[in-house]
Amino acid sequence: MAVLFREKEKLFVLETKDTVYQMMIGDYGVLKHLYYGKKVGDCNLSYLLQMYDRGFSGQIPEAGDRREFSMDTLPQEYPTYGIGDYRSEALRIIDGNGGYGADLRYQSHRIYSGKYNISGLPAMYAKENEADTLELTLRDQVTGLVVKLLYGIFRELDVITRAVRIVNEGTTEMTLEKAASTCLELPHSSLDMIRFHGKHAMEREWERLPVGHGNQSVGSVRGTSSHQHNPFVILCAKEATETYGDCYAMSFVYSGNFLAEAEVDQIGQTRMLMGIHPTQFSWKLEPGGAFETPEVVMSYSAEGFSKLSHTFHQAYRNHLCRGKYKLSSRPVLINNWEATYFQFDEEKLLQIAREAGSLGVELFVLDDGWFGKREDDTSGLGDWYVNESKIRGGIGKLAKSLNEIGMKFGIWFEPEAVSEDSDLYRAHPDWCLSIMNRKPNRSRYELILDLSREDVREYLFTSMCSVLDSANIEYIKWDMNRSLSDVWSARLPGNRQGEVFHRYVLGLYELLEKLIQRYPDILFEGCSGGGGRFDAGMLYYTPQIWCSDNTDAVERLSIQYGTSFGYPISAVGSHVSVCPNHQTRRTTPLHTRGVVAMAGSFGYELDVSQLSEDEKNEVRQQIRLYKKYQPLIYNGRYDRLSNPYEEKGYAAWQFTDEERTEVLVNYVLTRKHANENIYYLKLRDLEEKAYYQADGGEHIYTGAALMYAGLPMPRDKKEYEAVQIYLRRVSFYENDSD
Ligand code: GLA
Repeated sequence: MAVLFREKEKLFVLETKDTVYQMMIGDYGVLKHLYYGKKVGDCNLSYLLQMYDRGFSGQIPEAGDRREFSMDTLPQEYPTYGIGDYRSEALRIIDGNGGYGADLRYQSHRIYSGKYNISGLPAMYAKENEADTLELTLRDQVTGLVVKLLYGIFRELDVITRAVRIVNEGTTEMTLEKAASTCLELPHSSLDMIRFHGKHAMEREWERLPVGHGNQSVGSVRGTSSHQHNPFVILCAKEATETYGDCYAMSFVYSGNFLAEAEVDQIGQTRMLMGIHPTQFSWKLEPGGAFETPEVVMSYSAEGFSKLSHTFHQAYRNHLCRGKYKLSSRPVLINNWEATYFQFDEEKLLQIAREAGSLGVELFVLDDGWFGKREDDTSGLGDWYVNESKIRGGIGKLAKSLNEIGMKFGIWFEPEAVSEDSDLYRAHPDWCLSIMNRKPNRSRYELILDLSREDVREYLFTSMCSVLDSANIEYIKWDMNRSLSDVWSARLPGNRQGEVFHRYVLGLYELLEKLIQRYPDILFEGCSGGGGRFDAGMLYYTPQIWCSDNTDAVERLSIQYGTSFGYPISAVGSHVSVCPNHQTRRTTPLHTRGVVAMAGSFGYELDVSQLSEDEKNEVRQQIRLYKKYQPLIYNGRYDRLSNPYEEKGYAAWQFTDEERTEVLVNYVLTRKHANENIYYLKLRDLEEKAYYQADGGEHIYTGAALMYAGLPMPRDKKEYEAVQIYLRRVSFYENDSD
């Protein structure tokens, strides 16, 4: 068991591979947080908690004249608003009398093997012997509010998951105004926050800032996790690097509004919180009613970011992604979006597909524009039936023609949106989110369907099934091209409109679940204008996500760099596109575009029939190499060897297999200088006492030399040129003189 309750000491000890988490039932039944970090042996850490009387920090009634016993300074597992803790709270609730305040005290607990379930929400899963659960029940004696804190402890992974079940066991209605999924209290304040901000076509930009006094937060109120901030955040020691120092990460398994907070309090303690964003969130809890929060995945590393990322890569690949393509290789695809945009007919598509097939591409993806009256982005969304003027003979015939030339067929949907110029909108204008008596905002000429409604979901399910049943479709790109606004549902009474954002996400998950259950062999790729919904929630349904609409190889270096902190490489949809690049007008070598796109689920997005013979040969070679390296890229350990925000001259990264026999080193010169320096890449985590040799190279390196002395990169490279070196371990040696 990874969870222990030491009855006499009232101490809970949660152990993962290298970490331990301790908390205890303190005086008056208050649950106190003690520690999360590296293992400390058999030691009760309650001695860490030093409590002193602090002015203007009051006491709970039972504490009498113990003026040091204040909720305002106490590290807690699930702090609430209204009872004398003035820091950011995990829970804010209004009781039946309009009173703010919930005073949660320990009631009971339960420990069992296997991981807890939360219903209707994505979550990490585990076999009985891989994880254990601690379920801690807290109760507010006055109102009958019951809060169950759920901890999922993975035995062999440094992961603790948390979620909360809130039940109204009282007799009057209550209203939840904030219900975070987790809270982590740290006894110090000298920390940096690493977060990933962005915009459309420039997502997950790494940013490291000191955490100061007061509340610092990132979040989304756009209804999706968003391009602007990602629900993955790290707090780390000032001195932390890729390979050194304390870091604590939280990742939200949720695709809607979120808030990630860090607050340094008056006495230099830091509180970290993550959960659904409280803006326009309010949930009615009738007597007997319950609410479950989405899950947060927490990890701690004592050895810097690199270890943290490896943990998330393994965790999400093995315990979050599902389905046929969870671990298996994925087909190399070609997508027609940047090749044709809306201007295509079936002949043009087949021309691209034939050429692509002859180069080794395995799957043809038909993007936007195949349905309804969709000549551009102003119309047609919602009308999920084929536009026969573009695709004569329909989808079934197209799929058949593709299958005949040995290619799989995939298709694009944007199920959540509707165009005003569509049959669907004309028939059901009330199906979209819009505030009563107001005209809703448009974005990309779209409105959003109210997925909190069952009839809307039913329409989408039925109309998608009829397309999917009409042809041999083996892949779906699930897009979502705007942020939510005007969030109001005609199906809910006025005093429940604060539930719509979350009910929308629950509706989306329900629809996705129904589809993946009915079509278990289809590969789903998530997308939201590129990476606007690149989160762990979506990964539960779609094992890969289109990382960004920006296909420029140089810009992708920083986008993919940021993405790699919290998400596995196999999740990153990445394509080679044409030059000059459509987003930046930059020209980069085809080889570089290939090397960069190979750090993900690889494909093409250009009209291959326009390539020269030399370029076609290069594409053939890229596909051959990608297929050879794919197991290493997907299953191997990924190491960032540079930070594009700090080293301005180059970007580099490395894949290494578990046995350390194969290594793939990737390098792109991002800025050419006169009288260039030589860049030495120090590789990571090889066998020290082993010899390695590069493919086609003669020199023999020791693992130790590659790690401690480094590998010089060629100085004759032009700006944006790339180097890819595949090294193999050839033998071991015994001692240094051998
Ligand atoms: C979004 C996607 C693109 C493409 C277009 C089609 O922007 O990210 O890849 O599918 O929609 O409209």
